[in-house]
Amino acid sequence: MAVLVTGGGGYIGTHVCVELLNHGYDIVVVDNFSNSSVEGINRVKTITGKTFKIYQTDLLHKRKLIDIFEQNSINSVIHLAGYKSVGESTEKPIKYYANNIISTINICEIMKKFDVKKIVFSSSATVYAPSNNHQPISENFPLGATNPYGRTKLIIEHFLSDLSQSDSDWSIGILRYFNPVGAHSSGLIGEDPKGVPNNLVPYLARVAIGKLPVLSIFGNDYPTMDGTGVRDYIHVVDLAQGHVYALQKVESTTGIDRYNLGTGKGYSVLEMVHSYEKASGRKIPYEIAPRRKGDVAICYADPSKARNELGWVAKIGLKEMCQDSWNWQQNNPNGYEGDHPSPLNALKR
Ligand code: WQD
Repeated sequence: MAVLVTGGGGYIGTHVCVELLNHGYDIVVVDNFSNSSVEGINRVKTITGKTFKIYQTDLLHKRKLIDIFEQNSINSVIHLAGYKSVGESTEKPIKYYANNIISTINICEIMKKFDVKKIVFSSSATVYAPSNNHQPISENFPLGATNPYGRTKLIIEHFLSDLSQSDSDWSIGILRYFNPVGAHSSGLIGEDPKGVPNNLVPYLARVAIGKLPVLSIFGNDYPTMDGTGVRDYIHVVDLAQGHVYALQKVESTTGIDRYNLGTGKGYSVLEMVHSYEKASGRKIPYEIAPRRKGDVAICYADPSKARNELGWVAKIGLKEMCQDSWNWQQNNPNGYEGDHPSPLNALKR
């Protein structure tokens, strides 16, 4: 029996695959590699010493999905595949709504057809209504996404809730990510954004390694301890382990539930800059720029529900988050497309 990991080639996906394999699960990966690299999958095999099937296909192609379920004994799904850039989603809403929502409907339709009704879904803290007053954020906090990307996640959460209401055999775990950062300690897998990164930590990495000249800090007049935005950064390995804990819960029960995956601590942009400078030993030049549209001042999680119900707690601190991010960046200055030492190429399928 295997876990089907959609989007298993991505930043979160590769780390989730490593944790699943390390916990003894058999996995099957499906990814269209539109925003990821087969090299990342090859490296999952290097890290774990295990192998598994990969299907390069789009979840919009139902026939291909049926083939995957016919050819494999799938017991559950971890659904990570989806477009995730807030900025791009405001420019290309059709792309985001079509891809994120239709692919989820397709995967659930095929799961139902094969009587597979256990799914863990990758959602986001952007489903919460913006607020600077009520922090930390718990799962019963008011919902209200402010961008197309977040709205696709919210619509999918409602769809999954309706699915659960329609058939009590479904077991659904919704994971609301805060700010995933860092990389596996091996430095073999990590965040490899295409083009100029939108998110803070991959941008810091590019400045530290000299690929970008200066960091623009979007606003230093927020009502925070140093005026810059505060977020809940969580190590991607902690986040990936949260998926294993959620899968174990989903396997042992039915119904639907939502969990915040965050540390419960907030750090400001300036704190992140200083931590990254310590981790990299490099100076990070920065300039203060105007606030970014859609940003809130403060956003961090109350992770107690995941602790109490899943037995999961984020363990890795900020220093290691920055050290592991820098280690990945140093080892892979051009991400997965750079020159690889021969052993990695040997693993190409
Ligand atoms: C963090 C802080 C910025 C870049 C986004 C998505 C969210 C999730 C995580 C998918 C903010 C500041 C950033 C820069 C800066 N992704 N910043 N200069 O916006 O909290 O969340 O990524 O689920 O959905 O919304 O993350 O890393 O973009 O910003 O000053 O060049 O860093 O203003 O305070 P964010 P981020």
